[in-house]
Amino acid sequence: MISRDGNRPSRSTLAVTRSTLPVLLAVCACAPAESDGSTRPATAELVDLDPAPDRVRVVLVAAEGEVELLPGTRAAVWGYRDGSNPDAIVGIPGPLLRAPQGARVEIELRNELQVETTIHWHGVRLPADQDGTTAAQIAVAPGETFTYAFIAADAGTFWYHPHVEADVQIERGLYGAFVVDAPDAPEVAADRVLVLDDVKLRADGSLDEDTNALDLMLGRQGNVLLVDGRRRPTLVATPGSRERWRFVNAANGRYFALRLPGATLRVIGSDGGLLPVPRETDTVLVAPGERYDVLVDLPTTAGLLALQTVHYDRGHDIPDPGPQTIAELDVRGEAEPTPDLPTTWPAFAPLLVAADTPTRELVLSEDDTNAEDPKFFIDGAAFPAGDPVMVDRDALEVWTITNEAEMDHPFHIHGLFFQVLDGAGIPRPEIGWKDTVNVPRDSSVRLAVRFDNPGDWMMHCHILEHAERGMMGMLHVRE
Ligand code: C2O
Ligand code: CU
Repeated sequence: MISRDGNRPSRSTLAVTRSTLPVLLAVCACAPAESDGSTRPATAELVDLDPAPDRVRVVLVAAEGEVELLPGTRAAVWGYRDGSNPDAIVGIPGPLLRAPQGARVEIELRNELQVETTIHWHGVRLPADQDGTTAAQIAVAPGETFTYAFIAADAGTFWYHPHVEADVQIERGLYGAFVVDAPDAPEVAADRVLVLDDVKLRADGSLDEDTNALDLMLGRQGNVLLVDGRRRPTLVATPGSRERWRFVNAANGRYFALRLPGATLRVIGSDGGLLPVPRETDTVLVAPGERYDVLVDLPTTAGLLALQTVHYDRGHDIPDPGPQTIAELDVRGEAEPTPDLPTTWPAFAPLLVAADTPTRELVLSEDDTNAEDPKFFIDGAAFPAGDPVMVDRDALEVWTITNEAEMDHPFHIHGLFFQVLDGAGIPRPEIGWKDTVNVPRDSSVRLAVRFDNPGDWMMHCHILEHAERGMMGMLHVRE
């Protein structure tokens, strides 16, 4: 293990970091500040080719395409389109995959890219050979197809993305949301999926493919923020109504700390589905890879609201750009009475952690002594170096994820959900079941994990440059 002190960046490195940041993080000067007035409909839903109600069959094509990220410009991207429709074009995000809980879902991936790819179903508890990592399969070569199949066992908000060169492939646009609907969802006027991202654009609106040292260190932060692939879209809602917004953070490195002044926000779900009690809040922090479902109670009077992201200090002196509006909400029309909140929510079954529950520690660290070539580690090893963690099927363990780095790392484990423990070692019901948890710098987070899904799984930081530069490891759950 590398010592704490050995991982601290030198002061001179930080000085470089500071002077470079404002240039990168400044709001893009190439675009007008007002809304693009986009009235494009929400991202299309994949067409289900199987008429049976408990089966979903879709075709996803990964391909090159062009999208308008800034009004009046075209950006060459990689993305997904619905292969069932010959007229469908590549979009960012990819089309929404939606399935009822318990359905068998079959996805045919056709790779029309020039590079190999896979699809990982982030957060979905599925058989290990369907997980879409290179531990699970040989990557799908250009021109080839691969069909994924699994049962959508858990209701919730998930997402899909490649697990090959993820920092490049996701950044270029290969990502989409996957919603599994429970039969007894709370009653809402609208159920929206809002996929968050940021892109680094050149003045002509094209994607800047250049990756600099700062992108490697912090995870690339773009200069244009996107909601469902659109810059500052306008959403229309009815006064007094209640909506469910499902946020997915698909950005390589950016954290979103969301506010909607004038509306009431209640977090009702996280990675693993609904929480036992809704939690009213004014800010929802969404780290890369995480999902939050939020009930939004709109004001009873018409008007314009701004969905903003505010600064969250994730380390390395990233400057505060002030609140940034990422979408506008046009509340208009006849007011509706806000329905009563549901009175029953799913029960939370805490994992039974005891004094003799086996424990394990994983240490996250970074070395940026060479600012051009930062390295990231789990237990001192940069993937693929390092031994897999071996556990028995159905074992319960307490994991301490210790972050010795100078910035936060959102830690993701494939194939299972875990619970986050409080200081006394008790699972925290208000956080619910998670597959990705932010581990703040210079601190530890303790998790209770039941390894009920056998096979080879990946675990990594979801800042994609960190994962691809070493902060990734393997977990083997014995049969
Ligand atoms: Cu969304 Cu291995 O990750
Ligand atoms: Cu990280």
